[in-house]
Amino acid sequence: MKNQKTKVGIIGATGYAGIELVRLLLAHPNVEINAVSSVSFKGRAISDIYPALHSIYDVKLGDEDSVIEQSDVVFAALPHGLSEPIAKKCVRLNKLFIDLGADFRLDSQDTYKEWYEKNFDEPELHKQSIYSIPELHRDRIKDAKIIANPGCYTTCIPLGLAPLIKSGRAKLDTIIIDAKSGTSGAGRGLTQTTHFPELNEGFCAYKVASHRHIPEIEQTISQIAGEEVKVTFVPHLIPINRGILATMYINTDCKDENELYDMYCEFYKNDRFIRIMPLGQTVNVKNSKLSNYCDISLHFDKRTGRAIIISAIDNMVKGASGQAIQNMNIALGFDEGAGLDAIPPSF
Ligand SMILES: NC(=O)c1ccc[n+]([C@@H]2O[C@H](COP(=O)([O-])OP(=O)(O)OC[C@H]3O[C@@H](n4cnc5c(N)ncnc54)[C@H](OP(=O)(O)O)[C@@H]3O)[C@@H](O)[C@H]2O)c1
Repeated sequence: MKNQKTKVGIIGATGYAGIELVRLLLAHPNVEINAVSSVSFKGRAISDIYPALHSIYDVKLGDEDSVIEQSDVVFAALPHGLSEPIAKKCVRLNKLFIDLGADFRLDSQDTYKEWYEKNFDEPELHKQSIYSIPELHRDRIKDAKIIANPGCYTTCIPLGLAPLIKSGRAKLDTIIIDAKSGTSGAGRGLTQTTHFPELNEGFCAYKVASHRHIPEIEQTISQIAGEEVKVTFVPHLIPINRGILATMYINTDCKDENELYDMYCEFYKNDRFIRIMPLGQTVNVKNSKLSNYCDISLHFDKRTGRAIIISAIDNMVKGASGQAIQNMNIALGFDEGAGLDAIPPSF
């Protein structure tokens, strides 16, 4: 029985995060995908919808219940507001549930209601769910039953800020975050903003200081700081498929980038997916594309005493499906990087 693979299933397999789970899990050494589901495409082969899978993975899409029934680990990659009933069934049947959506990410029901205009329907379930960016929270999830997988900005930004905040050397009321995302961050659905002629050759800010990831970012960094922290966050949309790059400005009593560099190398010394760039280099989204890496470059503006930290991830991998698999690996006792060792292409 030693070599038996763990059965996993994906609800919402036809979305961008779902299909990325399929791509990554098919190459995972310890699991097999037992079932996938869709509402719109139920009964059709998944490779009809995504021909990249043709002759590799041609299984038919089923429904949510069949995924839960046939899997030991259930991933859901759905719009927010749909995950609580699935989590409830999974807990009852003793299946590990990993949610890529926002439903279990916020601790406070009031904050969730303020940003998502919805109450927790199952408050008891929320007490069992564990939010995890593995590099910051891996000790929490060994016996988790529900894992709330963070969002894309909310992975890239706290990973960039955590060492400086933890050091106690940041002026916490000075954090400004300017971030750019590729368009897969908006999912598969077409909107006017993501329609090719409108997006191509365009570059704009959106949801200025009002994006739903703000409370999640603040929750994570407030926990690290041990006090409430507020940030100014301005996201931008750029005409590339994948990638998030966040530039973070923060006042500090550090004297130069060498101090930052030593601090960050020490903080992440055991984290194989965090790459601190040599001083003088700046990160580029293309260098973490299709991989689970988070790249961080460190800069210091001596005239203003401001650290400038730039982090980059692939929003679909470290910002979604790769990180969900990393969380599963930890929860099930697999090697943390199993299935996630793809090397990013250089161009
Ligand atoms: N894209 C990213 O970069 C990213 C990063 C981190 C987290 N996330 C989160 O991951 C989740 C999925 O995002 P995505 O980008 O993959 O979105 P997406 O491409 O729009 O896919 C959404 C999926 O949900 C399914 N779905 C939609 N409405 C449904 C309903 N009423 N009942 C059941 N299934 C329904 C769709 O399935 P059918 O149409 O086939 O039925 C589709 O498979 C979201 O919560 C998002 O916030 C996304």
